[in-house]
Amino acid sequence: MPVSRELFRAISSSFPTGVVIIATLDDHGQPKGLTSQAYVGLSTEPPLMLVSIDRASRTLPALQRRRAFVINFLKAGAEDVATLFASKADDKFKDVSWDPSPEAGGAPILRGLSLAYAACRVTEIYDGGDHVMFIGSVEAGEALGGTPLMYYKRAYAAWPEERPAPPVEGTS
Ligand SMILES: Cc1cc2nc3c(=O)[nH]c(=O)nc-3n(C[C@H](O)[C@H](O)[C@H](O)COP(=O)(O)O)c2cc1C
Repeated sequence: MPVSRELFRAISSSFPTGVVIIATLDDHGQPKGLTSQAYVGLSTEPPLMLVSIDRASRTLPALQRRRAFVINFLKAGAEDVATLFASKADDKFKDVSWDPSPEAGGAPILRGLSLAYAACRVTEIYDGGDHVMFIGSVEAGEALGGTPLMYYKRAYAAWPEERPAPPVEGTS
């Protein structure tokens, strides 16, 4: 018999992760996005990333239709924005500066809040229980550096030490 929801959550929350904002555009060109920790760097060659979105997410229909998204890997200091994007607020982007990604159908890049970002085009969509998994081909991105924002036991914290960003070629 599968474990209870409580045990599943207790197990999951024992794993500290980074925090991302997955962002896209809806059919009206309005930005949509949510806070997530279910990110997988799936494949290097070809470069693929996987994200997992709750069926109840209001961003989900836009992702399914636009079939493109940006994964914004958050820096420490972005806790309030992470909390906002984990909410059901109507216009999460109202006070957030963003640039459209030409490689990801105009999906929002949150450069000022991010350590790095990856602009993805959806190649596959799979069922995942009460979530939907999107595999994206990474078409563009940047590694900007900074101190990561972490999530552990349902609370945010900065990664405890500074590290320089690794040198990367071909980051556009
Ligand atoms: C740290 C953290 C990680 C989360 N990870 C995910 C995730 O991987 N997938 C998901 O669908 N929701 C995740 N959520 C919940 C969504 O952010 C939340 O349901 C949000 O309200 C969805 O917004 P939307 O309905 O506008 O898309 C996470 C929330 C937090 C605080």
